[in-house]
Amino acid sequence: MKQVKKGLEGVVALDTQISFIDGVHGILKYRGIEIEKLADLSYDAVSYLLIYGMIPDAEGLNEFSRELRKERKVHPHLLNMLNFCDFENESLDALRTAISVCAHFDEDSHDISEQANFRKTIRLIARFPTMVAAFYRMANGLEVISPDPSLSHGANFLYMLRGSRPTELEAEAMEKDFILSAEHELNPSTFALRITASTLSDLHSAIISGLCTLKGPLHGGARKGVMDMLDDIGSPDNIAAYVQEHLEHKKRIMGFGHRVYKTYDPRARIYRDIARKVAMEKGNSHWFDLAREIESVMYHEMVENKHKPIYPNVDFYSGVLYKDLEIPSYLATSIFAIGRISGWIAHCLEQYGDNRVIRPRAHFV
Ligand code: ACO
Repeated sequence: MKQVKKGLEGVVALDTQISFIDGVHGILKYRGIEIEKLADLSYDAVSYLLIYGMIPDAEGLNEFSRELRKERKVHPHLLNMLNFCDFENESLDALRTAISVCAHFDEDSHDISEQANFRKTIRLIARFPTMVAAFYRMANGLEVISPDPSLSHGANFLYMLRGSRPTELEAEAMEKDFILSAEHELNPSTFALRITASTLSDLHSAIISGLCTLKGPLHGGARKGVMDMLDDIGSPDNIAAYVQEHLEHKKRIMGFGHRVYKTYDPRARIYRDIARKVAMEKGNSHWFDLAREIESVMYHEMVENKHKPIYPNVDFYSGVLYKDLEIPSYLATSIFAIGRISGWIAHCLEQYGDNRVIRPRAHFV
């Protein structure tokens, strides 16, 4: 038996046409297109690209957006069920349960034919935001807001969350957030759901595998970790002690480091830019300035200790952006999932399209 690679570091498990990462030069492409270019499109267009493999023409995009907007509403039974979820917990727990319940109301639930999968794709992408916003409203004793079909995916989510329309910049920030979170090759949650799909289990089941895996603090849960860390640090005066104490005791600083990127995560740079703009619009850059200072202290600590630099990842400035959008940290992982759903589905479809069950070996000791 060959030597085990702990954490499967560097192991290439499959071929994909969905995304490409160059971790040395900090390059990310979805379907061959740089993330910097994609960030200026709409989330609907990027979802279409991920799922169908091409940028839609105007007519194709209109049709796709119309379908998504038509499917945003969720079954009333599902809203009733959300009432039984523990509001003290992270919303991801409720979302995971909600997807399980959704499968019971979906007539295509067990059908993994291409046609059924495309129908479920639309319903899943369209309803993730509705479920997360409904959970938030219920948890806070507020009336659930119905989706507004005249709004984009991002604007509609903020509208359902707050009960009022976001500013143009806030809507743009939410769209970018969903786009930047949409896809990242064989990250832990995507790998988990490809394994589920490789057993020819259905789409809802595979998505639940992804959700459960995204939750962990070393993966998508780090976004919540960043928001909580910003609260814990509170003021620039506390940064140095916080960072030093963590590094000394080998505790992780949330939102830093990456298995693949050995340089700045290209998504973090785009998040940083939009987070700065939102902070400026609000006229309060406290969280943004604090984050910039944490980044600077981290860098200097690494240099001083002759450690390889550890750069911010996708979760760092997205956490800052959520704070400026006044989103509570217990929603962070679910909002990540709202973006990631289109990438997850693209991977399931790719797996079904050229399947062999994923079954590695273990070395008995
Ligand atoms: N804070 C402090 N030290 C860190 C961090 C961090 N965030 N990340 C890595 N390191 C250090 C490790 O202690 C280790 O140091 P050493 O060489 O002196 O022992 C070195 O960097 C390499 O770390 P590994 O654990 O080998 O890196 P791995 O690839 O296994 O882990 C991971 C990557 C999980 C992302 C890690 O960097 C981490 O825990 N980050 C914090 C959590 C986080 O932000 N996760 C989100 C990642 S993006 C995503 O999944 C959506």
